[in-house]
Amino acid sequence: MRKVFLILVFLFSYPENSFASNHYPITRDSEINIFKGKKLYKQYCASCHQSNLSGAVNWKSLDNDGHRKAPPLNGTGHTWHHSDEILHKIIKYGLAKLVKNYEGKMYGYGDKIDDQGIDNILSYIKSYWNEENYKYQISLSKK
Ligand code: HEC
Repeated sequence: MRKVFLILVFLFSYPENSFASNHYPITRDSEINIFKGKKLYKQYCASCHQSNLSGAVNWKSLDNDGHRKAPPLNGTGHTWHHSDEILHKIIKYGLAKLVKNYEGKMYGYGDKIDDQGIDNILSYIKSYWNEENYKYQISLSKK
């Protein structure tokens, strides 16, 4: 948990991370976007985060080579505590680029998936969250 906190402090304090475009908040209102996001998710993300978004088995423990495992994205983890801007960056650039000396397996997909595609994946991920968490996260993303 402390590690996650440090990551967030880093993301907020690093000037080059500020975003020019503002396409947030990302909603789950469009069935088409969710459908497109699902396709991309299956192709690029399901191998680690699982096709039902439940994350790796025992995701809080470390894998055999000492790395953190893929957390659930379905609303049972802490994904919904991050704003859209942060989530978009994690997916686009990967934690490896955002966090100095990062040792982990969440790399960026910016060279494979465009910004709209990343937003679509987020719409799909959000379609799994309960109403309360969804609304909370939307309010975070409006700031
Ligand atoms: C090779 C395995 C792997 C793949 C493939 C992968 N991830 Fe991850 N992901 C991780 C790991 C491991 C973490 C935890 C980061 C850490 O603590 O090092 C993570 C973290 C995340 C987080 C932060 C979650 C949170 O609750 O803070 C998001 C969002 C995320 N991944 C989305 C995606 C998306 C979207 C894709 C597909 C485009 C994807 N990941 C593909 C392994 C993977």
